[in-house]
Amino acid sequence: MSVHAQAKKVTTHTLQEMKRSGEKITMLTAYDYSLARLVDGAGVDVILVGDSASNVMAGQVTTVPITLDHMIYHAQCVERAVDRALIVVDLPFGTYQGNSKQALDSSIRIMKEAAAHAVKLEGGAEIVESIKRILTAGIPVMGHLGLTPQSIYKFGTYTVRAKEDEEAKKLIEDAKLLEEAGCFAIVLEKIPKDLAKKVSESVNIPTIGIGAGPDTDGQVLVLHDLLGITMDFSPRFLRRYLNLAEDINNAIGQYCQDVRSGDFPNESESYSS
Ligand code: KIV
Repeated sequence: MSVHAQAKKVTTHTLQEMKRSGEKITMLTAYDYSLARLVDGAGVDVILVGDSASNVMAGQVTTVPITLDHMIYHAQCVERAVDRALIVVDLPFGTYQGNSKQALDSSIRIMKEAAAHAVKLEGGAEIVESIKRILTAGIPVMGHLGLTPQSIYKFGTYTVRAKEDEEAKKLIEDAKLLEEAGCFAIVLEKIPKDLAKKVSESVNIPTIGIGAGPDTDGQVLVLHDLLGITMDFSPRFLRRYLNLAEDINNAIGQYCQDVRSGDFPNESESYSS
C-alpha cells in the first residue's frame, strides 16, 4: 500500500498549519495518471498540474500556447490518480488576464470539469481583482511571483528576477497584496535567496520556492527535471535525482536488439495452444 493511502488528505489548511509548525511543504508537477499515482504514493503534499505541460508534454518552447482544454485534460488524468495530495492547476496564459469574470469562468471550468482543489495564477497587483473574484466562488488560489514564464516575451529571458532593489520591493509588496486578497500560498520562482527569505518572513501564508533558495516554506520542481527525463534543461537550482533519459534509452535499445536478434519473445513469454 502506498505511504499515504491511509493518510489524511492535504488541504490548504494543512499547508498553513505546516508553515506555522515549520514543517517543509513538498510540491511536484504531474500531468498524467501514471506518474501522478507514483508522486502521490510517495507522499508529496501538493501536485501541481503546471502549464509547464506545454514544454514537457507538448514540446512547445514556452508555456504560452497551452489552452484551458489542454490543462483540464491533464488535470482530469491527475485527479483520477490522487488519494492524498492537494491538486493545484495552473490557469494558462490568456484565460484570466482579460478581466475578473474571465478568470472566474476559467477557474470554475477547472474545478467542475477536473475536480481540482485550487488554481494558480501568475502575477501581483495587476491580477488582485481577478483573485478576489475567483475567491468569491470558494475556489482557493495560489499566487506565483518572481519569474513568471507566461510573461517571457515581456522579460525576454529566463534569468533570475528581482535582483535590483526596485523589483525586489515590488515583489514584497505584491506578496503582501496576494496574502491580503486571500491566496493560500505563493510560488516564488527564480529570485535571490535573501529576498525569498524576506518574503517568507513577511507573509503568514506558505511560500513555495523554485530556484529561490532554502528559506521558503516549501519547494517545487518539475517532475521530469527531477527524474532526469528533460536532459536539455540544467538550471543551477535543479537537483536531478535520477538519470532516467539514459536508463530509458538503454532499455529501449536493448528491446530493439532483442527483437532484431529473435531473442524476444522467448518460450516463456509465448502462449501454447
Ligand atoms: O508550470 C509549472 O510547472 C510551474 C512551476 C515551475 C512552479 O509553474
